[in-house]
Formats: sequence, C-alpha cells, structure tokens
Amino acid sequence: MQTLSLPFQFFQAHFDEYLSRYQDFLRIPSVSTDPDHKADMQRACDFLVGQLKNLGTDRVEVFPTPMHPIVFAEKRSPKPNAPTLLIYGHYDVQPVAPLNEWKSPPFEPSLDGDYLTARGASDMKGQVMAVLSAIDSIVKTTELPLNLKFLFEGEEEIGSPSLETFIASHRDLLACDMVLNPDAGMVGLDLPTVVYSLRGLVYFEVRIDGPKTDLHSGLFGGVVANPAIVLSEIIASLHAPDGSVAVPGFYDQVLPLTPEERARIAANPTRETDLLAITGAPALYGEAGYTPLERIGARPTLDVNGLYSGFIGEGSKTIIPAYASAKISCRLVPNQDPDHVYDTIKKAIENRVPPTVRLTMVKHSGAPAYLADDAPGLQNLTAALSETWGKPVIFKREGGSIPVATTMQNYLGVKSLLTGFGLPDDHIHSPNERQHLPTWKKGVQALIHFIAGFEHES
Ligand code: BES
Ligand code: ZN
Repeated sequence: MQTLSLPFQFFQAHFDEYLSRYQDFLRIPSVSTDPDHKADMQRACDFLVGQLKNLGTDRVEVFPTPMHPIVFAEKRSPKPNAPTLLIYGHYDVQPVAPLNEWKSPPFEPSLDGDYLTARGASDMKGQVMAVLSAIDSIVKTTELPLNLKFLFEGEEEIGSPSLETFIASHRDLLACDMVLNPDAGMVGLDLPTVVYSLRGLVYFEVRIDGPKTDLHSGLFGGVVANPAIVLSEIIASLHAPDGSVAVPGFYDQVLPLTPEERARIAANPTRETDLLAITGAPALYGEAGYTPLERIGARPTLDVNGLYSGFIGEGSKTIIPAYASAKISCRLVPNQDPDHVYDTIKKAIENRVPPTVRLTMVKHSGAPAYLADDAPGLQNLTAALSETWGKPVIFKREGGSIPVATTMQNYLGVKSLLTGFGLPDDHIHSPNERQHLPTWKKGVQALIHFIAGFEHES
C-alpha cells in the first residue's frame, strides 16, 4: 500500500508546483492549424522536452516533421523484465475564435473556484500534465515498476497528418506492451470512464465560384447565380428529412448495430436532459431510428463546421458574392473508409452543381474510426479508476476522434487504453475551455495507482 500512497502524498504536498507547471504549459498558444503560431508550437515542444528531462528520462529526442515536431522519450525501470507502457499526448490546441466570447484571455489561465480556464486546459494539456505529474511523483518517491515511453505530437487537432509516417518508420523505437492515451474524457462528474470506441473523421472544403468579383445585386441580381444560394442548396441537399445523410453510398460500409452493442451503449448513464443541459440546444436532433448515444457513438454524421460568403461586416451591403465556401466534416464509424466516404460525397456534390457556377473541393485530414475493448492493461486501469473514485468504471463509445489509436493498432499491434479526466461540460474546442481541478487531482491519483500499482501484480 505504501508504494501507492507515498507518491500521492508527494503530489498533494507539491500540488501548487504541479499546478503552476500546468499553467505554464497553458500560457503557450500552440494552435497547430495557424501558421502564425509556428514558433509557439516549437515552444510547447521545448516545454515538454524540459518536463521529460526533469523526470530523469534516459533519452529525449525531437523529430522534425513537415509541420510540427514529435517528441519521443524513454525512461527505463530498474526492475528487470518490466513491461513497457507507451504514453501518448498532444501539445497542440484548437483555435480560440470567437475570442470575444472568452471571459478571460484564452492563454492566460484563470483559476476560479474548482475550475482552471484556458484553451487546452482539458483537451489535452491538462491530461498531459496529469500524467507527467503522476510520473514525477512516482519517481521522486518509489521505484518505477514499468519502462515508460512517451510520444507527444503537435498535430492531433488537425488530424495527425505526420504521425502515421513516423509510427510506421519507428516501430522498434515505439515497441511496447501497453499504450495509455489520456485524450478521451469522462461521461460525467465522478463517473470514471474508459473509452472503447472512437469515431473517425474526414474533413474537406467546398467552394462555389460564380462571378469573377462581388457584383452590385441590383445591376446583376436575376441574371447571375448567387454562389451563397447555390452552396446553401447543396448543403441542404446533403440530409434527408429523417436526419440521415442523403449521399448515395454514404452508409455502404457501416456495420449494423447488434442488440448486444445497443444494450451496451444504453448502459451509459448520459440522458437526453444531460445533452440538452450541456449543449443549451432547445431540442435534440439526429438520424431517426437511433438513440442519442447511438448517434454519438456508433452512427456517422455530416456537419458544416464553417460557412462563409459575401458581406459579413456590420450594416448592409448589396452584393452578389463572387464565391461561397464551407468547411464540412463527417464523423465516421468502424469499417468506413475515409477516402471512400469522401469520394461518395464528392460525386454527390459534383452531380448537384448547376452549370451557372464552378465547384472546387479540397480534402483535409482523414482518419478511420477505432473499436477495441480489450487493450492490454485494461484490468489494471479499470481497478485504478474504480478504486480512486469508489465507483464502477463506465465503458463508453466516444463520438470524438483520436487518429493515433488506430494508427498504433495497425503499426505497433497494440490497442490503446483510452481514458482522461475531462468532463463533457469542459467546453473543449469552444470558448472558455476549462478543467475541473478536483477531477484532475483524482485523475493524477488514479494514474499513480495505475502506474505504481504494477508493482503489486505477479
Ligand atoms: N481529445 C479530443 C477527442 C475526444 C474528446 C475524445 C473528448 C474523447 C472525448 C481530441 O483532441 C480531438 O478533438 N480530436 C479531433 C480529431 C480530428 C481533428 C481528427 C476531433 O475529434 O475533432
Ligand atoms: Zn481536441
């Protein structure tokens, strides 16, 4: 028991220090999608290198990529034949817009009661710092029972475009017995969670060009097609009235849900009222014939993530816009191939474009879904979580995406332990992202239990 409690006592005694390092990490505006933040990405990478060196790692190496560097580190256990745990994290965050909706500046972490607010506080700098704090507390107080490897990337929020090549060409370096990926979250407060499925993603832009420039809508309205209207019609045509995606072939590869799987999904305690409260939407929406949890975890979707055309400033301006564009993405479920889905949508859109305008489509990232419920180390993790919270662990099919889980399964042959200590109302990807600190502390406690607890095996 002592090996478990000593590190946690150390963590509690040094909590202020750990919290202040966490805040230092949050101060770095590492927005991966924005080229203006390239130097900040390097700073976030350097920050992690510093943290990893402080842990007394045997090796820390930075691998450049076409975009943002990958950090690898290794710390060996003094125990012979110790199993190896590979820990994944990402140091990039989503953009902060709309900035005026933040109650405090996104990169100036603000502590208010139980919450720490900043971009990345929950997704996932908070989770990276929870793991690093847990390991630091362990190595300061006891013997590490596992060999540790760390893989931190800076491109998760843009679909991990450099990671597959890196993993494929560094299989020996990354060889491991278990993978811990704390980029998933909890079902709710005091509901420790392990995620066994993630949705995939395919992201693309659709642009409709009409006249060569914005035109006076009085002089030319009625003779020239309006790209904003054409794009709206195309977007509207992508769903049927029953909420399903109206693209021929879109559901071709989707496996039907078995009664067992439906029952398993229904065991998640999240209710419609929770979803209404968290989102603030006046009513729920979605594909007919499936429960909200099935629609989140096990059905594909198509969403508009951004829409732009014409004059969007204050006041009015009478024009026919020269172009209209939309950022669109689909969440994918197991067995769907992102390239195939993109091709079906591209074909459907091409068929719906009238000859009065021109269409351009650009594909961004694509990642397949993930489904695996028997990752190595699952029993240890489940025990650590349930003992820390004094509650059974909830197994969840998650609607979000973490591309690396599938990539690691494919190239390293190891399934991931997907967990995390973010809550559904942390506002991830939204203004005022936050982390519930009492949950973060419990998360560190559970991670200490999970990692240091390996000594109690065998
Ligand atoms: N941490 C999230 C995914 C997530 C959130 C999983 C909550 C489980 C619970 C991750 O950082 C994320 O947002 N991923 C992107 C990936 C995409 C760009 C391929 C996503 O889901 O939008
Ligand atoms: Zn995210």
